[in-house]
This record gives sequence, C-alpha cells and structure tokens, in this order.
Amino acid sequence: MSILTEFLGGASGRPDERWGLKYHGLKILWMRSERRIGAMSTVGGTIVLSAVAVVMASLAHLILYFDGAKLTPLAFFNIVIETLVVAVPLLLYSRRVITQLEKSRSQLATMSRRLAFSVDEAELANRAKSSFLANMSHELRTPLNAILGFSEVMKDQHLGPVHNARYLSYAGDIHSSGRHLLAIINDVLDLAKIEAGKMSLDNAAKFELVPMLDSCLAMLKGLSEKYGVTVHNEIAEDGLQLCAVERMIRQIVINLVGNAIKFTPPGGTVHLSGQLRGDGGYEIAVRDTGVGMSEKEMANALTPFGQNENRFTGKHEGTGLGLPLAKAMLELHEGTLTMSSVPNVGTTVTMIFPAARIEARDLVAA
Ligand SMILES: Nc1ncnc2c1ncn2[C@@H]1O[C@H](COP(=O)(O)OP(=O)(O)O)[C@@H](O)[C@H]1O
Ligand SMILES: [Mg+2]
Repeated sequence: MSILTEFLGGASGRPDERWGLKYHGLKILWMRSERRIGAMSTVGGTIVLSAVAVVMASLAHLILYFDGAKLTPLAFFNIVIETLVVAVPLLLYSRRVITQLEKSRSQLATMSRRLAFSVDEAELANRAKSSFLANMSHELRTPLNAILGFSEVMKDQHLGPVHNARYLSYAGDIHSSGRHLLAIINDVLDLAKIEAGKMSLDNAAKFELVPMLDSCLAMLKGLSEKYGVTVHNEIAEDGLQLCAVERMIRQIVINLVGNAIKFTPPGGTVHLSGQLRGDGGYEIAVRDTGVGMSEKEMANALTPFGQNENRFTGKHEGTGLGLPLAKAMLELHEGTLTMSSVPNVGTTVTMIFPAARIEARDLVAA
C-alpha cells in the first residue's frame, strides 16, 4: 500500500470514489502519479509533492497579478495551494514516522515478552543450579569422606599389616587422589556459592594478620622445597588485625603464594610485602621471579578453569580455579585483587583490603 493511498483513506477506498474524481483521464493521471510517488522514498516523494505545489502556487500568483490582487476565489485558491505546500509534506512525513513508531512499538513489545520469558527461564535455571549444588555438596562429600577415611586406615595399616606392597601403594594413591578430588569439589562449590550470592560473611571475626600468614607459609614449606623456590616474608606488622572470614583469607593467601611458587623456576624467589594505604586499607603483594604472563594470559588466568600454556603445563596439579576463587573471596570482603606481570620476568599479585576490615595499632600509612 503506497503512502498516498494510505493517507487518502486506506487500501479499501477505490481511487474513483475519492475526492469525487469522475473524469476518466484525470483518474488515470492521479493513479499513475500516486503509484510513482508512493514508490519513492519519503524524502523523494516529499520533494516531488512540494515542487508540484510550488509550481501551482506560482501559477496562481501569476494569475493573481493579472487579476489586480484582490481576494477573489482565485486568491482563495492560492491560499489553499500554499497551505498544501506546507501541509502535504508534513502530513506525509509524520504519517511515515507514525507508521515506523508503531512498528518499533510492536517490535519492542515482542522483545520485552521474549526478555520476560528468558528471565523466567534464567531464574528457573538458577534455582535448579542452587538445589543441584546443595545436593551435590552432600552427595559427593559423603562417599568421598568414606573413601578418604578407609584408604587412610589401609595406607597407615591401622587394622594390621597389608602384606602386598602394591595394595599398600594403591591405598596411598586412592587417598591422595581422594584429597585432590575433595579440594576440587570444595573449590567448585565455593565459587558457585559466591556466584549465586549464597556465601555469607556471617563468620567474619577479628584475627591477627601475621600469625595467620606464618601458618599459611608453614603449610607451603613442603611445596617451596619441592620447587626449589625461596619464600621471603617481609610482613611484620604485629598490631594489625583483619576483620574477615579467616578460612577464606587463608585460602586466598595459599592460592596466591602457591601459584607464585609453582610458576617460578628452581632458584627463584617469592616475596611477600605489605603496606598500609593512604585510604586506611591494607595491601599485601606477592611478587615472584617466575614465568610471568602476557595481558591475554592474565585475563585467561582469572577465568574459572583458565590455565596458560607454559613450561610448567602438565607438571603441576591444579584445575584453574585458584585465582578466580581468590578474587571472588576477596571481592566478597569488599577487597580487590590486582595483578601485574611481565613474561619471563615475574608476576605480582596484590590483595587490597578495605579500611573497614583493618584495625591497625601504631601503624603509619605509606
Ligand atoms: N604467579 C604466577 N605466575 C605465572 N603464571 C601464573 C601465576 N599464577 C597463576 N598463573 C597462571 O594462571 C593459571 C590459573 O591459575 P589458578 O587459577 O591458580 O589455577 P591453577 O593453579 O590450578 O592452574 C595457572 O595455570 C597459570 O598458568
Ligand atoms: Mg593455582
């Protein structure tokens, strides 16, 4: 349907019924010009119609000039034509705009219906995920605890000697694999819980920073010896207390220092340093002299299960959950994790704790 047909009364109106056009030649002329103008773009059609109206108005002026410029029926005709010059393009244009607006409105309505449907689906999926995780947590940990308990009894020969040496070594393997699996399950569940907004800080309490760091580093002693990497801890702020969930902060430290050790070649060093910030917060930097990462590799390392190809690939145990979990746990404490790295030079990962979580006696900001 052309714009003009639409404008003049819709598709149902036949041309000979409109505007009282009875003369056959005029009817054909009207229909042809309507079809041509209708086929043009809005701008083209508007220009043509305006030009026609201007020509007609000029003609009327010319006639008026000869007529002595009185308000004769001809002058009135002139006024009508001049009005049309302005009105026709405006009407045509607004008609097109209205049609487009209506089209966009119906598209918008369809889109919002689809969006509402997707939100419903996502909420349903999220609820399913939460209950799946709650069940998984129980269903996986219970048998795993049995596996760990019984294999420990066997490997340590609590109930009497195991005579076959291979059985004994299998029991040891079952135990260490079970522990590894439990660690992965715990990481996956923790990350999922944080993402679902279900991890709370209800257990947050005050604790001393230095003893906590010392005990984490003691746990990593075996790892640093295995990798031939020296760990230096320069943090000695005795009065500093953190208000946080200690289990999570321990895990963050172990993950970051563990990474620094694992991705540093033998003979390298890992440095821990801390400083009070001007805004009252506290930051702990873990700096290593390891393989380092490019910008792209850093982004990959922060995604769940993201691991980079490097000379340590395949040599170290890991699932690629350590960094994203550390970041998520720190952000849960309103903290920030930043990372800077140079390939083949080293990496520095910094944990920043907000002022609200720090209690520092006799300490001066850097
Ligand atoms: N200090 C680091 N130096 C170099 N690469 C690192 C360092 N820390 C992490 N990465 C890279 O980021 C990846 C992801 O780390 P992480 O999430 O802790 O997983 P995982 O240690 O289980 O592989 C690692 O596999 C490694 O490629
Ligand atoms: Mg790791």
